[in-house]
Amino acid sequence: MAPTSRPDQLSEEMIDATLADSFPASDPPSWTLGRDRNEQEKIAGVAVTQTSTINDKEKFIMKTNIDLSEEQRAGVVKILNTLLSDEYLLYTKTRNYHWNVTGPQFNDLHKFFEEQYTQLSEIVDQVAERGRTLDGWAFGTMSEFSQHARLKEHPGHYPRAREMIANLVDDHETVIRQLRSDLETCADKYHDMGTNDFLTGLMEQHEKMAWMLRAFLQAESV
Ligand SMILES: [Fe+2]
Repeated sequence: MAPTSRPDQLSEEMIDATLADSFPASDPPSWTLGRDRNEQEKIAGVAVTQTSTINDKEKFIMKTNIDLSEEQRAGVVKILNTLLSDEYLLYTKTRNYHWNVTGPQFNDLHKFFEEQYTQLSEIVDQVAERGRTLDGWAFGTMSEFSQHARLKEHPGHYPRAREMIANLVDDHETVIRQLRSDLETCADKYHDMGTNDFLTGLMEQHEKMAWMLRAFLQAESV
């Protein structure tokens, strides 16, 4: 049975209208008022028209015009997404070692791996956003990362501390060699000096991380 409204019951519109009188017309409340609804729809109609005009302009403005062709940018974005996959894998491996390291230098290595995976996390972000800067899409799924990464993982294997460090040195050096080749490709083949500079900076960061890992290997007790 449909509910019957009592004569002393105020409708929603009546409450809105009553409360609206408590606010100046120049500054109406944020909740929708019955008497203002029509006005707001009119304003919204204008806004929609303006939005579509802006969208037409934006379509033109949003076309990337940085003196790199679509093909050049696509080539660089492909390099960046493959690098991103390696960086994500290396980030995950370093974090895995932070969790699972054992031995007399546990405390030092636990903290050291944390510093390195934090730096790698920042690198992951920068690589992804460099690709977006060039109007490409960044890989953002585990399946894409594992499909495109060149570095290898060893699930279920928990190496001793020394082997962990050696594995990380090996991976950083693999990334460094790849970066040295990629930064030249970006400059020579795609004429993208911005990404060339970006990859050079990344290579230096990996060189420093690899040096720090190697220094641990030189310690007798690891
Ligand atoms: Fe932790």
